[in-house]
Amino acid sequence: MPSKQFQALVVNEEADNTFVRQLTTKSTADLPDYDVLISVKFSSLNYKDALSASGNKGVTKRYPHTPGVDVAGVVEESRSELFSPGDNVIVTSYDLGTKIPGGFGQYVKVPAEWIVPCPDGLSLYESMVLGTAGFTAAQSVLKLIEHGIKPNDGKILVSGATGGVGSISVSLLSHLGYHVVGVTGKTQAHAMLKDIGADDVISREEASDTSGRLLLREKWAAVVDTVGGIILETAIKTTQYGGIITCCGNVASPDLSISVYPFILRGVTLAGIDSAKCPMKTRKMIWDKLASKWKLPTLTNLADDINLSQLNNYIDMILKGKTKGRVVLNLHGETS
Ligand SMILES: NC(=O)c1ccc[n+]([C@@H]2O[C@H](COP(=O)([O-])OP(=O)(O)OC[C@H]3O[C@@H](n4cnc5c(N)ncnc54)[C@H](OP(=O)(O)O)[C@@H]3O)[C@@H](O)[C@H]2O)c1
Repeated sequence: MPSKQFQALVVNEEADNTFVRQLTTKSTADLPDYDVLISVKFSSLNYKDALSASGNKGVTKRYPHTPGVDVAGVVEESRSELFSPGDNVIVTSYDLGTKIPGGFGQYVKVPAEWIVPCPDGLSLYESMVLGTAGFTAAQSVLKLIEHGIKPNDGKILVSGATGGVGSISVSLLSHLGYHVVGVTGKTQAHAMLKDIGADDVISREEASDTSGRLLLREKWAAVVDTVGGIILETAIKTTQYGGIITCCGNVASPDLSISVYPFILRGVTLAGIDSAKCPMKTRKMIWDKLASKWKLPTLTNLADDINLSQLNNYIDMILKGKTKGRVVLNLHGETS
Protein backbone atom coordinates (compact mmCIF):
# COMPACT_ATOMS: atom_id res chain seq x y z
CA MET A 1 0.00 0.00 0.00
CA PRO A 2 1.30 3.51 -0.70
CA SER A 3 2.48 5.42 2.34
CA LYS A 4 0.23 8.04 3.93
CA GLN A 5 0.96 11.33 5.57
CA PHE A 6 -0.42 12.00 9.02
CA GLN A 7 -0.29 14.39 11.97
CA ALA A 8 1.54 13.63 15.19
CA LEU A 9 2.81 15.42 18.26
CA VAL A 10 6.58 15.07 18.05
CA VAL A 11 8.93 15.79 20.95
CA ASN A 12 12.37 17.04 19.87
CA GLU A 13 15.49 17.27 22.00
CA GLU A 14 17.29 20.58 21.42
CA ALA A 15 21.03 21.19 21.58
CA ASP A 16 20.69 22.74 25.06
CA ASN A 17 18.96 19.55 26.37
CA THR A 18 15.53 21.16 26.45
CA PHE A 19 12.55 19.40 24.86
CA VAL A 20 10.14 21.01 22.42
CA ARG A 21 6.78 19.54 21.38
CA GLN A 22 5.23 20.37 18.03
CA LEU A 23 2.56 19.08 15.68
CA THR A 24 4.39 17.54 12.73
CA THR A 25 3.45 15.89 9.45
CA LYS A 26 4.87 12.37 9.34
CA SER A 27 4.68 9.46 6.88
CA THR A 28 3.59 5.88 7.57
CA ALA A 29 6.76 4.88 5.67
CA ASP A 30 8.79 6.19 8.63
CA LEU A 31 7.02 4.01 11.19
CA PRO A 32 8.89 0.92 12.47
CA ASP A 33 8.52 -2.18 10.31
CA TYR A 34 5.99 -4.09 12.43
CA ASP A 35 3.18 -6.26 11.09
CA VAL A 36 0.07 -4.22 11.79
CA LEU A 37 -0.70 -0.65 10.72
CA ILE A 38 -3.45 0.90 12.84
CA SER A 39 -5.38 4.06 12.09
CA VAL A 40 -5.57 5.58 15.57
CA LYS A 41 -9.05 6.87 16.42
CA PHE A 42 -8.48 7.67 20.09
CA SER A 43 -5.57 7.75 22.51
CA SER A 44 -5.42 9.00 26.06
CA LEU A 45 -3.14 11.00 28.32
CA ASN A 46 -1.41 9.17 31.16
CA TYR A 47 1.19 10.53 33.56
CA LYS A 48 3.80 8.36 31.83
CA ASP A 49 3.00 10.04 28.49
CA ALA A 50 3.69 13.41 30.04
CA LEU A 51 7.06 12.15 31.30
CA SER A 52 7.87 10.87 27.80
CA ALA A 53 6.69 14.18 26.32
CA SER A 54 8.96 16.20 28.60
CA GLY A 55 12.26 14.38 28.10
CA ASN A 56 12.24 11.94 31.03
CA LYS A 57 14.99 9.54 29.95
CA GLY A 58 13.76 6.91 32.40
CA VAL A 59 10.71 6.59 30.14
CA THR A 60 12.02 7.54 26.66
CA LYS A 61 15.69 7.54 25.78
CA ARG A 62 15.62 8.53 22.11
CA TYR A 63 14.16 11.68 20.56
CA PRO A 64 12.57 12.88 18.26
CA HIS A 65 9.71 10.83 19.62
CA THR A 66 5.91 10.57 19.47
CA PRO A 67 4.51 9.60 22.91
CA GLY A 68 1.19 7.89 23.63
CA VAL A 69 1.13 4.52 25.43
CA ASP A 70 -2.54 3.99 24.53
CA VAL A 71 -4.18 3.38 21.16
CA ALA A 72 -7.71 2.46 20.11
CA GLY A 73 -8.17 2.23 16.40
CA VAL A 74 -8.91 0.28 13.26
CA VAL A 75 -6.48 -2.07 11.53
CA GLU A 76 -5.60 -0.65 8.13
CA GLU A 77 -2.95 -3.17 6.95
CA SER A 78 -1.85 -6.46 8.47
CA ARG A 79 0.82 -9.02 7.60
CA SER A 80 -0.39 -11.12 10.55
CA GLU A 81 -3.10 -13.78 10.35
CA LEU A 82 -4.33 -12.62 13.75
CA PHE A 83 -5.78 -9.34 12.46
CA SER A 84 -7.49 -8.08 9.31
CA PRO A 85 -8.21 -4.62 7.94
CA GLY A 86 -11.30 -3.20 9.60
CA ASP A 87 -10.74 -4.86 13.01
CA ASN A 88 -11.34 -2.62 16.02
CA VAL A 89 -8.33 -2.99 18.31
CA ILE A 90 -6.69 -1.72 21.49
CA VAL A 91 -2.97 -1.48 22.20
CA THR A 92 -1.63 -0.34 25.55
CA SER A 93 1.95 -0.24 26.83
CA TYR A 94 4.67 -2.69 25.82
CA ASP A 95 7.09 -0.28 24.06
CA LEU A 96 4.31 1.78 22.46
CA GLY A 97 4.80 5.49 23.04
CA THR A 98 7.99 5.00 25.01
CA LYS A 99 10.44 3.32 22.62
CA ILE A 100 8.40 3.41 19.39
CA PRO A 101 6.01 6.08 18.05
CA GLY A 102 2.75 5.99 19.99
CA GLY A 103 -0.84 7.16 20.05
CA PHE A 104 -0.15 10.89 19.86
CA GLY A 105 0.02 10.31 16.10
CA GLN A 106 -2.78 9.32 13.71
CA TYR A 107 -1.06 6.05 12.72
CA VAL A 108 1.00 3.45 14.60
CA LYS A 109 2.64 0.20 13.52
CA VAL A 110 2.93 -2.51 16.15
CA PRO A 111 3.64 -6.24 16.46
CA ALA A 112 0.44 -8.32 16.32
CA GLU A 113 1.34 -9.83 19.72
CA TRP A 114 0.70 -6.48 21.43
CA ILE A 115 -2.85 -6.10 20.13
CA VAL A 116 -6.08 -6.84 21.99
CA PRO A 117 -9.30 -7.08 19.93
CA CYS A 118 -11.65 -4.39 21.26
CA PRO A 119 -14.19 -6.45 23.20
CA ASP A 120 -17.89 -6.36 22.37
CA GLY A 121 -19.50 -4.11 24.94
CA LEU A 122 -16.80 -1.42 24.78
CA SER A 123 -16.52 1.23 22.06
CA LEU A 124 -13.11 2.45 20.93
CA TYR A 125 -13.84 5.73 22.71
CA GLU A 126 -14.81 3.98 25.96
CA SER A 127 -11.67 1.85 25.82
CA MET A 128 -9.60 5.02 25.88
CA VAL A 129 -11.59 6.55 28.74
CA LEU A 130 -10.09 3.55 30.53
CA GLY A 131 -6.72 3.32 28.74
CA THR A 132 -3.62 2.30 30.64
CA ALA A 133 -4.88 4.12 33.73
CA GLY A 134 -8.16 2.19 33.77
CA PHE A 135 -6.41 -1.06 32.99
CA THR A 136 -3.99 -0.45 35.88
CA ALA A 137 -6.89 0.39 38.19
CA ALA A 138 -8.55 -2.88 37.18
CA GLN A 139 -5.31 -4.81 37.81
CA SER A 140 -5.15 -3.24 41.28
CA VAL A 141 -8.79 -4.06 42.07
CA LEU A 142 -8.33 -7.61 40.79
CA LYS A 143 -5.35 -7.99 43.13
CA LEU A 144 -7.51 -7.01 46.13
CA ILE A 145 -10.22 -9.46 45.10
CA GLU A 146 -7.71 -12.27 44.55
CA HIS A 147 -6.38 -11.50 48.04
CA GLY A 148 -9.87 -12.21 49.35
CA ILE A 149 -10.96 -8.66 50.23
CA LYS A 150 -14.75 -8.43 50.24
CA PRO A 151 -16.97 -5.33 50.48
CA ASN A 152 -17.87 -6.03 54.13
CA ASP A 153 -14.21 -6.37 55.20
CA GLY A 154 -13.88 -2.61 55.63
CA LYS A 155 -12.96 0.61 53.87
CA ILE A 156 -10.70 0.80 50.82
CA LEU A 157 -8.36 3.79 50.54
CA VAL A 158 -7.49 5.14 47.07
CA SER A 159 -4.70 7.74 46.79
CA GLY A 160 -4.32 10.20 43.92
CA ALA A 161 -8.08 9.78 43.74
CA THR A 162 -8.79 12.42 41.10
CA GLY A 163 -6.00 11.14 38.84
CA GLY A 164 -6.43 8.67 36.00
CA VAL A 165 -5.69 5.45 37.88
CA GLY A 166 -7.24 6.86 41.07
CA SER A 167 -10.55 7.98 39.56
CA ILE A 168 -11.14 4.70 37.73
CA SER A 169 -10.21 2.79 40.90
CA VAL A 170 -12.72 4.83 42.93
CA SER A 171 -15.45 4.23 40.34
CA LEU A 172 -14.71 0.55 39.89
CA LEU A 173 -14.49 -0.25 43.61
CA SER A 174 -17.74 1.63 44.22
CA HIS A 175 -19.38 -0.20 41.29
CA LEU A 176 -18.34 -3.49 42.91
CA GLY A 177 -19.91 -2.52 46.23
CA TYR A 178 -16.85 -1.45 48.26
CA HIS A 179 -16.80 1.49 50.68
CA VAL A 180 -14.25 3.83 49.11
CA VAL A 181 -12.24 6.60 50.77
CA GLY A 182 -10.45 8.86 48.30
CA VAL A 183 -7.31 10.85 49.09
CA THR A 184 -6.98 14.08 47.14
CA GLY A 185 -4.91 17.24 47.17
CA LYS A 186 -7.70 19.10 45.36
CA THR A 187 -10.04 20.73 47.86
CA GLN A 188 -12.43 21.61 45.02
CA ALA A 189 -12.75 17.99 43.91
CA HIS A 190 -14.59 16.43 46.87
CA ALA A 191 -17.99 16.66 45.16
CA MET A 192 -16.60 15.21 41.93
CA LEU A 193 -15.13 12.26 43.86
CA LYS A 194 -18.45 11.60 45.57
CA ASP A 195 -20.17 11.75 42.18
CA ILE A 196 -17.92 9.01 40.83
CA GLY A 197 -18.37 6.75 43.85
CA ALA A 198 -16.25 7.84 46.85
CA ASP A 199 -18.08 7.44 50.16
CA ASP A 200 -15.60 9.68 51.97
CA VAL A 201 -12.81 11.98 50.90
CA ILE A 202 -9.72 12.95 52.92
CA SER A 203 -6.85 15.35 52.25
CA ARG A 204 -3.29 14.32 51.44
CA GLU A 205 -2.29 15.71 54.87
CA GLU A 206 -4.79 13.42 56.65
CA ALA A 207 -3.32 10.52 54.72
CA SER A 208 0.29 11.43 55.59
CA ASP A 209 1.59 10.57 59.06
CA THR A 210 4.73 12.44 60.08
CA SER A 211 4.98 11.11 63.67
CA GLY A 212 7.61 8.54 62.73
CA ARG A 213 5.65 5.78 64.48
CA LEU A 214 6.21 2.36 62.93
CA LEU A 215 2.57 1.22 63.19
CA LEU A 216 -0.63 3.25 63.39
CA ARG A 217 -4.31 2.54 64.13
CA GLU A 218 -5.76 0.06 61.62
CA LYS A 219 -8.16 1.78 59.21
CA TRP A 220 -8.23 0.13 55.80
CA ALA A 221 -9.10 -3.34 54.60
CA ALA A 222 -7.05 -2.54 51.52
CA VAL A 223 -5.39 0.35 49.72
CA VAL A 224 -4.93 1.23 46.05
CA ASP A 225 -1.92 3.53 46.06
CA THR A 226 -1.02 5.50 42.96
CA VAL A 227 1.39 8.07 44.44
CA GLY A 228 4.11 6.43 46.59
CA GLY A 229 6.11 8.33 49.24
CA ILE A 230 4.67 9.24 52.62
CA ILE A 231 1.06 8.47 51.61
CA LEU A 232 2.08 4.90 50.74
CA GLU A 233 4.14 4.62 53.93
CA THR A 234 1.16 5.77 56.01
CA ALA A 235 -1.18 3.46 54.11
CA ILE A 236 1.01 0.45 54.91
CA LYS A 237 1.08 1.41 58.61
CA THR A 238 -2.72 1.83 58.76
CA THR A 239 -3.83 -1.28 56.85
CA GLN A 240 -5.79 -3.82 58.86
CA TYR A 241 -4.48 -7.25 59.85
CA GLY A 242 -4.21 -9.42 56.71
CA GLY A 243 -4.94 -6.54 54.34
CA ILE A 244 -3.27 -5.61 51.08
CA ILE A 245 -1.81 -2.43 49.57
CA THR A 246 -1.26 -2.20 45.83
CA CYS A 247 1.51 0.06 44.57
CA CYS A 248 1.62 1.27 40.97
CA GLY A 249 2.90 4.83 40.91
CA ASN A 250 5.36 7.40 42.13
CA VAL A 251 3.96 10.86 41.38
CA ALA A 252 4.65 11.91 44.99
CA SER A 253 7.93 10.03 45.41
CA PRO A 254 9.64 6.80 44.40
CA ASP A 255 11.02 6.47 47.95
CA LEU A 256 9.61 4.16 50.56
CA SER A 257 10.89 4.34 54.12
CA ILE A 258 9.13 1.73 56.21
CA SER A 259 9.90 -0.88 58.88
CA VAL A 260 9.05 -4.56 58.57
CA TYR A 261 6.48 -4.36 61.42
CA PRO A 262 3.28 -3.99 59.31
CA PHE A 263 4.35 -7.13 57.46
CA ILE A 264 5.50 -9.28 60.39
CA LEU A 265 2.96 -8.13 63.01
CA ARG A 266 -0.13 -7.56 60.83
CA GLY A 267 0.60 -9.86 57.91
CA VAL A 268 -0.16 -7.12 55.41
CA THR A 269 0.85 -7.57 51.78
CA LEU A 270 2.44 -4.96 49.55
CA ALA A 271 1.62 -5.90 45.96
CA GLY A 272 3.37 -4.36 42.98
CA ILE A 273 1.33 -3.58 39.86
CA ASP A 274 2.83 -3.42 36.38
CA SER A 275 0.65 -2.91 33.34
CA ALA A 276 3.36 -2.62 30.70
CA LYS A 277 4.39 -6.27 30.61
CA CYS A 278 1.11 -7.78 31.80
CA PRO A 279 0.83 -11.15 29.99
CA MET A 280 -1.64 -11.25 27.07
CA LYS A 281 -3.93 -13.84 28.67
CA THR A 282 -4.45 -11.67 31.77
CA ARG A 283 -4.65 -8.55 29.59
CA LYS A 284 -7.55 -9.97 27.55
CA MET A 285 -9.30 -11.25 30.69
CA ILE A 286 -9.13 -7.78 32.29
CA TRP A 287 -10.36 -5.98 29.14
CA ASP A 288 -13.24 -8.47 28.90
CA LYS A 289 -14.21 -7.74 32.51
CA LEU A 290 -14.04 -3.99 31.87
CA ALA A 291 -16.41 -4.48 28.93
CA SER A 292 -18.93 -6.58 30.83
CA LYS A 293 -19.38 -7.10 34.60
CA TRP A 294 -16.94 -4.33 35.46
CA LYS A 295 -18.25 -1.87 32.87
CA LEU A 296 -18.73 1.44 34.61
CA PRO A 297 -22.15 3.03 34.08
CA THR A 298 -20.56 6.48 34.38
CA LEU A 299 -17.64 5.73 32.07
CA THR A 300 -18.31 8.47 29.55
CA ASN A 301 -18.55 11.11 32.32
CA LEU A 302 -15.02 10.40 33.49
CA ALA A 303 -13.04 12.05 30.70
CA ASP A 304 -12.23 15.39 29.12
CA ASP A 305 -12.17 15.07 25.33
CA ILE A 306 -9.38 16.90 23.54
CA ASN A 307 -7.79 17.06 20.09
CA LEU A 308 -4.14 17.14 19.01
CA SER A 309 -3.91 20.92 19.19
CA GLN A 310 -4.99 20.92 22.87
CA LEU A 311 -2.63 18.15 23.89
CA ASN A 312 0.42 20.29 24.67
CA ASN A 313 -1.46 22.22 27.40
CA TYR A 314 -2.88 19.06 28.93
CA ILE A 315 0.61 17.54 29.13
CA ASP A 316 1.73 20.54 31.20
CA MET A 317 -1.40 20.24 33.37
CA ILE A 318 -0.97 16.54 34.18
CA LEU A 319 2.70 17.13 35.11
CA LYS A 320 1.46 19.68 37.67
CA GLY A 321 -1.19 17.24 39.01
CA LYS A 322 -3.93 19.56 37.72
CA THR A 323 -5.99 17.22 35.53
CA LYS A 324 -9.08 15.47 36.91
CA GLY A 325 -10.19 12.03 35.79
CA ARG A 326 -9.15 10.92 32.34
CA VAL A 327 -8.19 12.79 29.19
CA VAL A 328 -9.18 11.20 25.85
CA LEU A 329 -7.39 12.34 22.70
CA ASN A 330 -9.54 12.28 19.56
CA LEU A 331 -7.19 11.95 16.57
CA HIS A 332 -9.56 12.01 13.61
CA GLY A 333 -12.34 14.31 14.70
CA GLU A 334 -14.86 11.58 15.58
CA THR A 335 -17.21 12.45 18.38
CA SER A 336 -17.99 10.08 21.21
N1 LIG B 1 2.74 0.49 37.21
C1 LIG B 1 2.05 0.72 36.11
O1 LIG B 1 1.92 -0.12 35.22
C2 LIG B 1 1.39 2.04 35.96
C3 LIG B 1 0.34 2.22 35.07
C4 LIG B 1 -0.32 3.46 35.03
C5 LIG B 1 0.15 4.49 35.84
N2 LIG B 1 1.21 4.28 36.65
C6 LIG B 1 1.69 5.32 37.55
O2 LIG B 1 0.64 5.64 38.43
C7 LIG B 1 0.73 7.00 38.79
C8 LIG B 1 -0.61 7.68 38.47
O3 LIG B 1 -0.78 7.70 37.06
P1 LIG B 1 -1.97 8.53 36.42
O4 LIG B 1 -1.85 8.36 34.95
O5 LIG B 1 -3.22 8.19 37.15
O6 LIG B 1 -1.52 10.02 36.81
P2 LIG B 1 -2.43 11.30 37.06
O7 LIG B 1 -3.66 11.25 36.24
O8 LIG B 1 -1.50 12.46 36.93
O9 LIG B 1 -2.88 11.14 38.58
C9 LIG B 1 -1.99 11.27 39.64
C10 LIG B 1 -2.72 11.93 40.81
O10 LIG B 1 -1.86 11.84 41.96
C11 LIG B 1 -2.10 12.96 42.81
N3 LIG B 1 -0.84 13.64 43.01
C12 LIG B 1 -0.13 14.40 42.13
N4 LIG B 1 1.00 14.86 42.69
C13 LIG B 1 1.00 14.41 43.97
C14 LIG B 1 1.90 14.57 45.07
N5 LIG B 1 3.03 15.28 44.96
N6 LIG B 1 1.58 13.96 46.24
C15 LIG B 1 0.45 13.21 46.36
N7 LIG B 1 -0.44 13.05 45.36
C16 LIG B 1 -0.15 13.63 44.18
C17 LIG B 1 -3.11 13.85 42.08
O11 LIG B 1 -4.41 13.47 42.55
P3 LIG B 1 -5.13 14.29 43.75
O12 LIG B 1 -5.00 15.73 43.38
O13 LIG B 1 -6.53 13.77 43.73
O14 LIG B 1 -4.39 13.98 45.02
C18 LIG B 1 -2.99 13.42 40.64
O15 LIG B 1 -4.15 13.70 39.91
C19 LIG B 1 1.92 7.56 38.02
O16 LIG B 1 3.07 7.51 38.83
C20 LIG B 1 2.05 6.62 36.86
O17 LIG B 1 3.35 6.60 36.32
C21 LIG B 1 1.83 3.08 36.71
